[in-house]
Amino acid sequence: MTLVLGIETSCDETAAALVDSNKTLRAQKLASQIRAHAPYGGIVPEVAARAHLAVLEDLVRDALAEAKADWQDIDAIAATTGPGLIGGVIVGATFAKAAAMARGLPFVAVNHLEGHALSPRLIADVPFPYLLLLVSGGHCQLLIVEGVGQYTRLGTTLDDAVGEAFDKVAKLLGLPYPGGPAIEKLARDGDAKAFDLPRPLKGRKGCDFSFAGLKTAVRNVLDKTPDANAADLAAAFQMAVADTLADRTQNAIDAFLNKYPHGKHLVVAGGVAANNALKERLARVANKAGLDLVAPPVSLCTDNAAMIAWAGLERFVLGANDPLDFPCRPRWPLDPKAA
Ligand code: KG4
Ligand code: ZN
Repeated sequence: MTLVLGIETSCDETAAALVDSNKTLRAQKLASQIRAHAPYGGIVPEVAARAHLAVLEDLVRDALAEAKADWQDIDAIAATTGPGLIGGVIVGATFAKAAAMARGLPFVAVNHLEGHALSPRLIADVPFPYLLLLVSGGHCQLLIVEGVGQYTRLGTTLDDAVGEAFDKVAKLLGLPYPGGPAIEKLARDGDAKAFDLPRPLKGRKGCDFSFAGLKTAVRNVLDKTPDANAADLAAAFQMAVADTLADRTQNAIDAFLNKYPHGKHLVVAGGVAANNALKERLARVANKAGLDLVAPPVSLCTDNAAMIAWAGLERFVLGANDPLDFPCRPRWPLDPKAA
């Protein structure tokens, strides 16, 4: 049995979790900074880094208590070393390195995106290779996950990430940050057909995304008709996003099955994967191609430390033991060939 402590501080959640090799989530502690950033309508990096520093030590202590574990029960300490807001990344990674040094434990550096990418394997039996749609506030990518540390990127966003588009459109509609959950809730009472919004890149070859034009289209509607029904507009925007993601994912499924005819799974991960309308749409696309859609529960979709502990564990059992001068990186693509 291997037990790994994971630490996540790359964005606006401070998190610590303990996961074991039986896939048991022994403890999961999370402190959201949403309230600290809300007045600014987005994340302020300096505020984020200081807030991580203020709560991380207590979170780790609480996680150990919840797991009824002591430092000597732990086999390795994993932390996000990028990509993300560098001040926050440094707080979490330095804490983990210091604890590893003080306790004589191995340190495992984890790419935040790899945390999202491997998260389905913590809750389900999802063998490699699988197709991954990673949709979060900072990323929008389609990747083939071929193994731990082995990724082929099929497409990425040419401008905004999809979560960013949700957050910006929410701001236009006067909704609070983070915008995704607020738009999804409002959209339930709206008519998605009330507005005809664009589906950027739909029907084109390849698997890249673009969301800037869609956001501008929403702004144009509001400029022309300031009293436009917000629920209808939220629903129309959400539908346009789901349509676009489904179209791009369809192309990726073709490329995936071309390379791996026996591939079985489409995984959707990242904060936007919490969106139910999107999951329903993707399930249809996946099922039509004979694939199963795997969507981790919301607590594992949005940023968390369980996915970092799990990715650390997957790497550790394969022999990973990273040096304490391992760098923290604001940018760190999963597929270096595609960078
Ligand atoms: O993965 P995540 O927690 O942080 C990043 O690594 O970016 O993703 C956060 C993003 C935010 O943009 C948020 O608006 C979006 O995920 N999000 C959603 C929903 N819940 C969170 N977007 C659409 N629908 C949701 N239900
Ligand atoms: Zn994330």
